[in-house]
Amino acid sequence: MHMKASDTPLGPRTVPVTIEMEDPESLGQAEKLVQLNGAVGESILELALANDIAIEHACGGVTACSTCHVHVDAGEDAFDEPEDEELDRVEEAPGNDMTSRLSCQCRITKEGTPITIRVPAWNRNAVKEVPH
Ligand code: FES
Repeated sequence: MHMKASDTPLGPRTVPVTIEMEDPESLGQAEKLVQLNGAVGESILELALANDIAIEHACGGVTACSTCHVHVDAGEDAFDEPEDEELDRVEEAPGNDMTSRLSCQCRITKEGTPITIRVPAWNRNAVKEVPH
């Protein structure tokens, strides 16, 4: 699904973000680890898509699915606390745990904290199944 560009003004690209992919091929990547520079005001989904990392986002980033689920393995302080709506959706994601966030809602709000994001392999595979 196409995602509308955010209206949020972005800061300078000074926030180091490591994206670890359990199944990089399914996300259009060759390597499991990609190092990016994020900006305050940018969501992890926006950053990933801008760098051709094809995280699923079935609802277009409006908290109506859980296909954009990721794990924040480091740097959770760089983000605001999740809203209740996000927490409700995250609970629907397979393999969710205390590190789970929706990448479309996970917006960088502070500089100075390196971030590590892990994209689970099921994310892509689950939504690519063809109904019988
Ligand atoms: Fe649907 Fe993030 S894309 S909740």
